[in-house]
Amino acid sequence: MAARVITVTSGKGGVGKTTATANIAVALASLGNKVVCIDADIGLRNLDVVMGLENRIVYDLVDIVEGRAKLRQAMIRDKRLKEELYLIPAAQTRDKTAVSPSDMVRVCDELRPVVDYVVIDSPAGIERGFRNAIAPADVVVIVTNPEVSSVRDADRIIGLIEAEGKGPGHLVINRVKSEMVKKGDMLSPEDIIDILAVKLIGLVPEDETILVSTNRGLPAALNTDDQSRAGVAFRNIARRITGENVPFMPMEEETGWLKRLVAKVRGAENAADKIAAGPKPSVVEPPKKEIEEERAAARLIKPVMVSDNADGKPKAEEKPSNNEPVASAPTRSAESKADSDDEKPAVVKAEPAKIEPPAPKEDEKPAESKEVNKTPAASTEKKAIL
Ligand SMILES: Nc1ncnc2c1ncn2[C@@H]1O[C@H](COP(=O)(O)OP(=O)(O)OP(=O)(O)O)[C@@H](O)[C@H]1O
Ligand SMILES: [Mg+2]
Repeated sequence: MAARVITVTSGKGGVGKTTATANIAVALASLGNKVVCIDADIGLRNLDVVMGLENRIVYDLVDIVEGRAKLRQAMIRDKRLKEELYLIPAAQTRDKTAVSPSDMVRVCDELRPVVDYVVIDSPAGIERGFRNAIAPADVVVIVTNPEVSSVRDADRIIGLIEAEGKGPGHLVINRVKSEMVKKGDMLSPEDIIDILAVKLIGLVPEDETILVSTNRGLPAALNTDDQSRAGVAFRNIARRITGENVPFMPMEEETGWLKRLVAKVRGAENAADKIAAGPKPSVVEPPKKEIEEERAAARLIKPVMVSDNADGKPKAEEKPSNNEPVASAPTRSAESKADSDDEKPAVVKAEPAKIEPPAPKEDEKPAESKEVNKTPAASTEKKAIL
């Protein structure tokens, strides 16, 4: 076995990382994989509660790192599954520096030969805990909610992930309320994909069964009776992670934005098939300076639609956005941006996103990253929402 390490992270806190980690892990295990979850949220552990394993904790991650426990001793087995699912809980210590990125790499390297997947729950923010969580990652899953602040923070984190050489990430849009999207009161998944220019791997609806299942410590994906729509969505994500091509389920009914998204996905699949059959298109990189200038403009200038003209027609105006911390946000690599800009039409070119099956050869990883980097760029106007 050679495990794949999947880190679940986000920019903004409270978007559903822990929920996603627990459910993806349970779903991966239900598919017959041997899975270990690691709670990297030192000091604020809660993955154990969401998984319903809090009463069985004896040792934690810091005990492993500091040599008080062997890896096996700190792995809590979830006995509800006939498959093998384990949790390594976080410590509740106040010392968040007790674990370092190299400790995480070491722990995961020890797990790699004995399990199929390691799923790491990242803490909120971009501090040490975040760096710990992404250090061993082969795949980074970014969770966002369909709201501007969450998407903006996801954009920053995507920049950081790419800067660390861990990109591009795979996106989960959680808590989608299709009624609000329909009314235009919520960003649509299409808009979010355009803005963030990463591959979509999951659309999870707002679902009150999540609250109930969290309180009971029974992840929604445990139930195979399809009572929980979010549970089904998380199981679909797990299947995509294993390399299966799973269509996105309708959030409600296949109308409006979802229909367009599904059409785009299917169109992109057909296009991808054709490309796979023919010669590989070459990618022309625009000059680096242009890329940086355009990116800076996209982040600093906010086109505003104003409707109070004399003629009453809307007019596009460019006004510098004040109070714009995004200007200092990390920019994504020029290469990634170049790829993005060149491939704008294929918004969901490789959709539905599926992650390569386990055990890639070490020397194949850079190539894989580069390939997936060919995601589309958001238009300047779309970016400006951020
Ligand atoms: N799809 C969903 N539908 C309804 N509620 C959800 C959904 N996903 C998550 N929640 C709820 O959102 C809240 C936050 O979820 P969670 O703790 O997983 O977020 P988090 O990103 O891990 O937070 P933190 O950044 O604090 O670690 C929880 O109350 C959870 O039950
Ligand atoms: Mg959490």
